[in-house]
Order: sequence, then C-alpha cells, then structure tokens
Amino acid sequence: MKEIQTIGVVGAGAMGRGIAQIAAQAGLRVRLYDTSADAVAAARESLRQTWDKLAQKGKMSAADAQAALERVESATALTDMSNCQLVVEAIVERLDVKRDLFAALEGVVAEDCILASNTSSLSITAIAAACKRPQRVAGYHFFNPVALMKVVEVIDGLRSAPEVGDALAELARRMGHTPVRAKDMPGFIVNHAGRGMNTEGLRVAQEAVATFAQVDAVMREQAGFRMGPFELLDLTALDVSHPVMESIYRQFFDEPRFRPSPITTVRLAGGLIGRKAGEGFYVYADGQKQVPA
Ligand code: NAI
Repeated sequence: MKEIQTIGVVGAGAMGRGIAQIAAQAGLRVRLYDTSADAVAAARESLRQTWDKLAQKGKMSAADAQAALERVESATALTDMSNCQLVVEAIVERLDVKRDLFAALEGVVAEDCILASNTSSLSITAIAAACKRPQRVAGYHFFNPVALMKVVEVIDGLRSAPEVGDALAELARRMGHTPVRAKDMPGFIVNHAGRGMNTEGLRVAQEAVATFAQVDAVMREQAGFRMGPFELLDLTALDVSHPVMESIYRQFFDEPRFRPSPITTVRLAGGLIGRKAGEGFYVYADGQKQVPA
C-alpha cells in the first residue's frame, strides 16, 4: 500500500481535532469536515492555541507550529475528501449515522482509500456492511486526549483486509502512537477490560460503601491508575460514555458484568455530564476540580 500522506477526518469534536493534531504534527495533510461549520472553525482555533502554547513552551518551533496549522484544511463538504488516502470518522456514536456516512464516503473517495472508524463500542463489521468494499474498513480507536494517550486500537472487522490494519498500525507509529491490534468484539480491549473499573466503581458508590472521591483516590493512589473511574467519566462526559456503556452491555446480551448504573442515567438526564458542563461527579470552577458539598 502507498504511504499515507493526506487524511480526511470527519467529525471535528474532541476526538476529531485530536486526530487532526497528531496527523498534522507528523507532517500529514489533513482535511477536517463536520456537519457543523462552527465545529470545524472551533477545532482549528483550538489547534492554533495548542500549537501556540507548545511553541511558547519551546516544545516545537514557531515555524513548525505555523506549518502544522497550515496542513489542516477546513473541508466544507464530504466531496473535499476525494483525494485522501485514509478517512477517519469521529462522529456521533450511532450505528445508523456511521453506516450512512461510510456509504456516502465510498461514493467520494478512490478505490484504495482506507475508511476507519474511531468508534468506542460499535461493531466494525456492522459499519463495514454498509460499504461495497468492506475490506477497506477497519477500526482506529484513539483515546482522549489523543495527543497524550499514546495507545490506539487497530480493529479488524470480519471482512477487513489485513493490509488495511497494517497500514493503520504503520501510520500510528509515524504519529508517535503505539498500535494494538484487536478483534471486532464489543468494547475491543480497553472498553472491555477497563469496563470493570467503571461498573464496579459505580456499584461501590450505589451501595454507599464509599463516595465517588474515595473510590477515585483509592484507584489512583493504591491501584496506580492515572485517574479514578469518576474522574475518567467526567473527562469523557456522560453524553459520550453512557451510550458506550449501554451499547457494550446490550451487545453482550445483558451480561451483568457490563450492566450500567442508574447513577449515570439520572446524571445524564440532569445535565451533570462532566467537566465540559462544569459539573459531573465533581464541580469544575476556574479550572479546579472540587468535591460537591
Ligand atoms: P463530539 O461530540 O465531541 O464530536 C462529534 C462531532 O461529530 C460533532 O462536532 C458533530 O457535529 C459531528 N457530527 C455528528 N454527526 C456527523 C455527521 N453525520 N457528519 C459529520 N459530522 C458529524 O464527540 P467525540 O467525543 O469526539 O467522539 C466522536 C467519536 O469518537 C464517537 O464515536 C465516540 O464514541 C468516539 N470516542 C470518543 C472518546 C472520548 O473520550 N470522547 C474516546 C474514544 C472514542
């Protein structure tokens, strides 16, 4: 396969902008598209600020920061993806919407363009089934924040050509990330193996054994995780993580190990979704995390 030089990123939210960042830093040209033009503009502005800060801290030169920004082009239509060798999708976590997007992308890109999904929980095989060439489809699951979380899961669907995953793994290394190959099972590796910490943390809180903050402190300081389950849920935000929890639970045929908790359902309904809303399991004011009274 030819070396990937130009990638399309569809979805300019938290994940799309992170993927655009590491790709542009690795010298790739990036076309960034979102159904919301405001989201694309906000993503470019946030990338500009990120690179300005890195330049101010001496972590990259001002010229490199400027060049990286220039490599990220705003796309105004899906047809702008036509000369990409890879398109990574990071849109809403809904199978029907992702399938429609992949089918539409096939009508735009070249025969050998790879189509990858950043889905956290949906089946790559099911997304690929919307395509005429499902062998070109694979999962490319980055973590938030993309530039700091150096692992990426490369997921082979039942019909994915092995060389597609190989090309994604090679590109991940060029972008300074470590690829881990996974099979197409609900939650892949991290959202399957890591789910236990979330669900058991929620059980501990539900049974009033300990508070959210106590669970987090123990998991951080005793178990050695960088964040406890509630800190992580606040970072990801429940509007993103709750559907993932539900989806994995359902896909394993209501396996009790993966059962979500009413604690998150109520909080999602109430808008206490995490850091981005200013309140989740913790309250965020002036960039500081506080335990609610
Ligand atoms: P987000 O809500 O920050 O951004 C999603 C963006 O997609 C929005 O700007 C929205 O306007 C756009 N969008 C929605 N439908 C679209 C369509 N049909 N065409 C083009 N753009 C569309 O979401 P986030 O957090 O970036 O997540 C995106 C994907 O990445 C989801 O599949 C999520 O499960 C996955 N993911 C999220 C992680 C996280 O921690 N936030 C971690 C790993 C994966």
